[in-house]
Amino acid sequence: MGKRMFTGLQPSGQSLHIGNYLSAIKGVLALQDTHECILCVVDYHAITVPYDPNVLRRFTLNIATEYLAAGVDPERVTMMVQSDVPEHTELAWLMGCLMPVPKFEQLPTYKDKRARYGTASFGLLAYPILMAADILIYKAHTVPVGRDQLPHIEFAREVARKFNHTFGETFPEPEARINAGAYIPSLDGKGAMSKSAKNGSIDLSDTANTVQDKLARAVTDPARVRRTDPGEPHNCPVYAIHVCYTPQGMLAQLAQGCREAAIGCLECKRILAQEIISDLAPLQARRRELLARPQRVREILAQGAATARPRARETLSEVRQRMGLD
Ligand code: TYM
Repeated sequence: MGKRMFTGLQPSGQSLHIGNYLSAIKGVLALQDTHECILCVVDYHAITVPYDPNVLRRFTLNIATEYLAAGVDPERVTMMVQSDVPEHTELAWLMGCLMPVPKFEQLPTYKDKRARYGTASFGLLAYPILMAADILIYKAHTVPVGRDQLPHIEFAREVARKFNHTFGETFPEPEARINAGAYIPSLDGKGAMSKSAKNGSIDLSDTANTVQDKLARAVTDPARVRRTDPGEPHNCPVYAIHVCYTPQGMLAQLAQGCREAAIGCLECKRILAQEIISDLAPLQARRRELLARPQRVREILAQGAATARPRARETLSEVRQRMGLD
């Protein structure tokens, strides 16, 4: 097993949403048999914007619980919390010294969050170098992510190239792994589904009723004002989610029904709600069991950090030596 995979998710919401699940978590599930896998709750990334310490603690445990509920096998995947392996931040400092400031300022996440909060911490600016360090410290080859993370993966590749060029061949250039769920739109029609936007997301913790309610309120193709107006599925966020859940035959029928106004949006949403509810049911049953055993989840995270740390130390000492710091 030569290939390594790393990915991370921020504990910035009380539950993951289906976008996180379909892109990153399903990516891990697809690789856990063939790759050496490390899956991280990136708490140091979550503190780059204003947050509440007590809430962060709870979210960190919840997100780890959801990894397990989704089917991540802790026997095969090293599951850890970023701040339990502080070598990540030391590597981030070392790598940060290689990269010019304008590269950081150009990244879309930085620009978006600075605009949203009206200001930016140094941590928010430095965010991509910590993400690069997360990946490079394990010399990971593959990084399953959603589409929004592609600029950050490109940045990490640049960091690897720069380091290799300056100090000698050390890191593989990590590659993003993108699948069909790489971009799940928000139900309110405003950009991508996100953990912080209320009602714009379907969360792994949502009950059947909540899924139905949220979908009932979701925006669809704006051209379909009345039931009799034909629509274009590719302009509809609900259809974009259908693509990830609904079998091909039914999907083709829905697309045709929409274009011919033979099916209404409500019916189309009802079908999607059923697909999502039945997909989430086994995950939610495991989630409930695990929420009752937080100590078990903490043990898995402690074990994960104990496995990851020597690996991280090894890379760090190689880097320190190459940089003349040993
Ligand atoms: P985060 O926590 O914002 O998102 C976690 C993962 O979910 C994906 N994602 C989506 N996929 C499809 N549709 C959406 N609407 C959607 N929203 C989010 C993200 O692309 C991501 O894969 N910077 C990262 C966390 C991170 C990381 C890393 C990832 C830190 N270090 C190292 C990979 C490798 C982030 O904020 O993800």
